[in-house]
Amino acid sequence: MATFSFFASLLISIFLVHLCLYHEVESADDQLISTHREALEIIIGGGSPPTPSPEFENCPPPPPPPCPPPPSPPLPPPPPSPPPPIPPPPPNPSPPPPKPPPKSPPSPPPKSPPPPKPRPQPTPPAPNPFGSPRLELAYHVFQNFRLLIQDDPNNFAKSWRGTDVCKYKGVVCAIHPDFKQNAVAGLDINGALFSGHNAKLPLDGFLDKLEDLAFFHANSNNFTGSVPKDVSKLKFFYELDLSNNKLIGGFPNEVLAATNLTFLDLRFNSFAGSVTPEVFKLDVDVLFLNNNNFNQKIPDNLGSSPAHYFTFANNKFTGPIPRSIGQASKTLFEVLFLGNSLTGCLPYEIGYLNQATVFDVSSNYLTGPIPHSFSCLAKIDYLNLASNSFYGPVPEQVCTLSNLRNLTLAYNYFTEVGPECRKLIKKKFLDVRQNCILGEPNQKTKAQCAAFFSKPRKCPNEKEMTYVPCKRHWGSNEKKPEHQKQASAPLSYGSLVPHRL
Ligand SMILES: *[C@@H]1O[C@H](CO)[C@@H](O)[C@H](O)[C@H]1NC(C)=O
Ligand SMILES: *[C@@H]1O[C@H](CO)[C@@H](O)[C@H](O)[C@H]1NC(C)=O
Ligand SMILES: *[C@@H]1O[C@H](CO)[C@@H](O)[C@H](O)[C@H]1NC(C)=O
Repeated sequence: MATFSFFASLLISIFLVHLCLYHEVESADDQLISTHREALEIIIGGGSPPTPSPEFENCPPPPPPPCPPPPSPPLPPPPPSPPPPIPPPPPNPSPPPPKPPPKSPPSPPPKSPPPPKPRPQPTPPAPNPFGSPRLELAYHVFQNFRLLIQDDPNNFAKSWRGTDVCKYKGVVCAIHPDFKQNAVAGLDINGALFSGHNAKLPLDGFLDKLEDLAFFHANSNNFTGSVPKDVSKLKFFYELDLSNNKLIGGFPNEVLAATNLTFLDLRFNSFAGSVTPEVFKLDVDVLFLNNNNFNQKIPDNLGSSPAHYFTFANNKFTGPIPRSIGQASKTLFEVLFLGNSLTGCLPYEIGYLNQATVFDVSSNYLTGPIPHSFSCLAKIDYLNLASNSFYGPVPEQVCTLSNLRNLTLAYNYFTEVGPECRKLIKKKFLDVRQNCILGEPNQKTKAQCAAFFSKPRKCPNEKEMTYVPCKRHWGSNEKKPEHQKQASAPLSYGSLVPHRL
């Protein structure tokens, strides 16, 4: 829990850095990678509502309430004047929001009609009871949305009353970089378990109307319908988490226009159809698409994405893994293809992923041998090829990869393992159950293996299968590279459970 709140404050400070510094940090690549990785740990591992951190309180000192600078004619304060130009809270048919005493003098009820008085001098505007005009806008959005909620078991919406929007549960405020006034910069309703009247709870009119958002985290609610078109207008939008809702429709192309996104999590919804190639042009660090009904081929330009974490798992993707994946060699850390209907042989270009720690293609219809290029996966930690139709000898060089802790080859048609691989089996790092390996326990039957190999098996790119695109000095006394830190647990597997922990 202590770790969590540390990370939570970290997330907020990251986010505030974005806001305060106008997000001028793109070039600091390494720093970005590490901060986002840390942010990700919260998002995956413990994304409950962040609590404002000290950094938050210290960062931008909130401005004094009066927001539009008063016109300057130096005049003695005018006598009691017409009602200040602040509309009272909107008429909310039911239930009426109880009005806590506003911070500022309550505005007198509008008299009708206002006395047609000559106004020689404009009066200084009264302090905005909401703290700022941006907060006032957000207030109306929250009140309208609140009426749509039927179930609020975790008492989020119940706190969304009164003029102090920044105190609403889940709301994070910060000074808006353009307007220079306090605004709703983030909303974290992870686990609120909201559901709407008649099983309808649209994002339309809510997400898209909170115009100052930099993040929207809504894991585990019952939002329905599709993603609002106008999310593309959210100028400072960095993180969108809609995971584990009831959203439908095709890939939400609307989000593609929100070009400042660095985190896109759509997992555990009912999105269907193909994923557009445009998605790999987004400048995201994280792309979680797992557990939807996406189908058709994974677009060929996969490798043009700068994302560090990809989860395609548990959809209905077909066709091969795009060769372009090798272009992501500098950026891709973890990728989960498991649980789809992918076919074909593995492209040798996967071997270029020398930053990758997790690669999982288990439970597909892939075939062919393990490309020898896999021995270039210098940082690989989890490599899972289980439950496909891979065959042939397991390349010894792969078993000597120094970071490899978990190599799962079970339920395939592999035929041989050498001494290096046997060492891994002994350490229980390598699982070769249910293959066709002579002398290993728990293999497929002779008949099963014979049936499989009675058909000719060949990959179209057979020659490339032995190509090794890196220099390594083979031999069992190979020196381990320096600073072999124990790798941290993979992050992307956390995306395979619907709820944030
Ligand atoms: C909201 O979703 C949960 C989980 O899928 C479900 O059990 C619950 O019945 C839903 N509530 C409504 C009102 O639809
Ligand atoms: C992205 O953010 C920058 C500031 O960091 C802003 O200038 C730009 O307009 C934003 N992009 C979009 C599409 O709004
Ligand atoms: C390797 O990963 C599989 C599933 O991904 C898991 O079941 C197994 O326990 C892991 N093995 C080791 C040695 O960590």
